[in-house]
Formats: sequence, structure tokens, C-alpha cells
Amino acid sequence: MEQRGVFGSRLAIVLATAGSAVGLGNVWRFPFMTGQNGGAVFILIYFACVLLLGIPGMVSEFVIGRHAQSNAARAYGSMGHRSWRFIGYLGILTSTIILGFYAVVAGWCLQYLFASVAGQLTGDAAYVIRYFQTFSADPIKPCLWGVAFVLITHLVVSKGVNDGIERASKLLMPLLLILLVVLVVASCMLPGAYRGVEFLLKPDFSKVSGNVFLEALGQAFFSLSLGTACLCTYASYFKRDTDLLRSATQIALLDSGIAILAGLMIFPAAFSVGVQPDSGPSLIFITLPNVFQEAFGAVPVVGYFISILFYALLVFAALTSTISMHEIGTAFFHEELHLSRRRAAWVITGACVLLAVICSLSVGAYDGLRLFDMPLMDFCDFLTAQFMLPAGAFLTSIMLGWFVSRRLVQEEFLMGQTHDTSRMVKRAFFHIWLFSVRFVVPICILLIFLHQFGVI
Ligand code: TRP
Repeated sequence: MEQRGVFGSRLAIVLATAGSAVGLGNVWRFPFMTGQNGGAVFILIYFACVLLLGIPGMVSEFVIGRHAQSNAARAYGSMGHRSWRFIGYLGILTSTIILGFYAVVAGWCLQYLFASVAGQLTGDAAYVIRYFQTFSADPIKPCLWGVAFVLITHLVVSKGVNDGIERASKLLMPLLLILLVVLVVASCMLPGAYRGVEFLLKPDFSKVSGNVFLEALGQAFFSLSLGTACLCTYASYFKRDTDLLRSATQIALLDSGIAILAGLMIFPAAFSVGVQPDSGPSLIFITLPNVFQEAFGAVPVVGYFISILFYALLVFAALTSTISMHEIGTAFFHEELHLSRRRAAWVITGACVLLAVICSLSVGAYDGLRLFDMPLMDFCDFLTAQFMLPAGAFLTSIMLGWFVSRRLVQEEFLMGQTHDTSRMVKRAFFHIWLFSVRFVVPICILLIFLHQFGVI
């Protein structure tokens, strides 16, 4: 048996895992969710969800993955009873479905990157709307871009943990940060930008409703890549002495920080030209091309480059995330069915290509492709974000909190905690974490399910 990959350094661990977390969820979903749910209030609740449920959930997946040092299904089976493998299977299925529709949006970003380079995104507001409609209704083009994105992901993943995933993350994540900072500065320097900053930072508590909590929680899970054994798979490549709690905290902070920066990039620019912040998912494909032109209208060449930088940023962010979704299934087929890594990657790629084409057509040329009265693409998003992710996180915490020997969990949790905190402090952290894994996480998720089914 060939040796398993191990991430080469602490930095590699943080960059690769943060690469999974930082994606369209931060740069596309977070801003429009914030816009639709009242700005700063949403952000406050979102932070509470990250702290209370997100970080404990991340540590749980880390504990399981690092303990087993194997693919998701085997990891769940080896930490708990064999039958818990089904959580791993569920995770593999969920992440493959997510990759299918995520690749469609990522493909749009790729198309918009090329369109920006070719200078096709210049024109009045009506033109930009028409551009998006014509593109998305085309039966071939969006499918091809989506498939292309899956294939690029395939190329990286089939190169393996160190030469593929680690290298791509080390290159793309710093680039992404630099691009983001440049865009934030440009956006905040526009006249009237302060109103966008105010929208993000000044809470208006009259906007709080049950729904805002639900949306914030779903967003936190999606953004942290929780609930599909994705973090569990990455943790299986961690070193044995990695401090799990500290890594989870760093990654969650980085992910949330980048989401805020994405907001600081988008809203000041939007407010500066008088665009409403709540325009929904089309924000980055219809609203922003307009904003770029109007905001930088005085010097069009600046608008031209800003637009290229922006879509490049989206493509990089999406790629480090699709890599992680792909890796879950690839690692499974590689290790359990003894396929070569390349063959294993093709199994996932094949499934995702098929799904991406169907999803793409369902929101474009063939709007008859519907399930429960939703285009198939929206259905996949709904099914995964609202049911499968929370279910995965729920089952994980039930297994870890109630069905695994406490000694085993404690040993894995404390392993690698070398920094100067005393044993007492470490134990205190362990107890707080275990409490939230046993009670806080499952109860919160249960409440949300009950709310969704209309029971409460
Ligand atoms: N977190 C990523 C984002 O914000 C998306 C993502 C990557 C994901 N891997 C995942 C979401 C696994 C759920 C499960 O875009």
C-alpha cells in the first residue's frame, strides 16, 4: 500500500483547510445573505453561530479524521461502531451533490473572468442584465464552463495531497488575500462608500426574526464546510501533533474575516452608486458589473482591471473549495475500492459532470427540469444546505458525544496541545467542547429541523 499524504506544515494545514472553507460561500453567498437579512444584525448572529456551533463542529470532524487517518467512511466506522460508517457515506454523497451545482456557479465565474478580459462587460444596466440572461439561457456555454471547472478540479485532486491540494492552496490562498485587500481599498475609497460600511457594521435590531437565525446557521455550516466529512477527510492528512482546537479557531476566524472583507468589497461600491444591497444571488453577475463601470466610470481602464481581479478572485476561491469536495469521494474510492488515485478521481468527476450539466440546464435552457417545483439546481442547494449538512453535523455530534469512549475522544482532543496553557485550562476547554458537542449542537440543529417542518 502506498503511503498516505500528510500536509507538510502547520501553515499548509491552515491554508488548505481555510481554502476549503473560503469559497463562493464567502464572496457570493455571504454578501447577498447579509444584504437580504438586515446587514450588521445578520453578521452578529452569524458570528454567534460560528462560535457556538461552528468551532465545536469543526473540532469534532477533526477529532474523527485525525484519529483514523483514513477516508471519511472508514474514519467514522473506526471511531464509533462499524455501522456509523453511514455518516461517512452520507458525507460523500452530500459533497458530490454540492460539487455538482457549485461547479455551475463557479463556471459562470470563469465565463465572467474571460468576458472581463475581453472587455465584454461594458454597457448600460439593461445590457448587463441581457448579457446574463442570454448567457444563462444558452444550452451549451454554461454547461461547458461548469464541466471545465470540474475538470480543473479533477486535475488538481488527481495529483494527490501534497503535489495537488497543498500546492494549489499555498499558491491560491495568498493570491486571494492580496486581490481581496486591493478590491476592498478600491471600494472603500469611492465617494459615499461610508454608507456601505455603516450598513455592515451598524446593527438594526428591528430586522431580527426566526428566519434570520436559520439563514445565519445554514450560512455558517456551508461556509465552514461543515457536515459532509470534508473537514474529517482533510484532518486525516494532519500531523499527529496538530493542535485541533487552535487550528479550528484560526480557520473559523480566517473564514469569517474573509467574509467580512468580501462585504467591505461589495457594499461600499454598491452603495456608492446607489444600488440596493438586497438584490440576491444575481448580485455578483448583474449588479456588480454595473457597479464597476459606474464607480470607476471616470477612468474606465481602472474599472476594466477591477472587474478582472474580482472574477479571478471568485475563481480562485471556488477552486480551493471544489478541490476539497472532490477529495472526500476520491479518497474513499481510492482507499476502499483500491482504485488508483486517478481512477478514483474519475468516478467522482464523472458523477459531478453529469450533475453539473443537468443543474446548469435546469436554470437555463430546459426549465422543465424541476423537482418539488424548484429548478433542479435550486433543489440540490436546498436539499444539501437545509437538510443534509445539518443532518451530517447532528449525527456527528451524537456519535462523538454519546457513543464513543470519552477517554478516546479526550486523548485525541488533547493530543498536540503543546502551547503553554496549563493542563487545567486544556481540560476546561475539553469540557466546554464536550458539553457543546453533547447538548448545544444537537439541540440547536433539532430546533431548526422542527422549525423547518413547521412544528415550532
Ligand atoms: N465552504 C465552501 C464555501 O464557503 C464550500 C464548501 C467546500 C463546502 N466544501 C464543502 C460546503 C463541504 C459544504 C460542505 O464556499
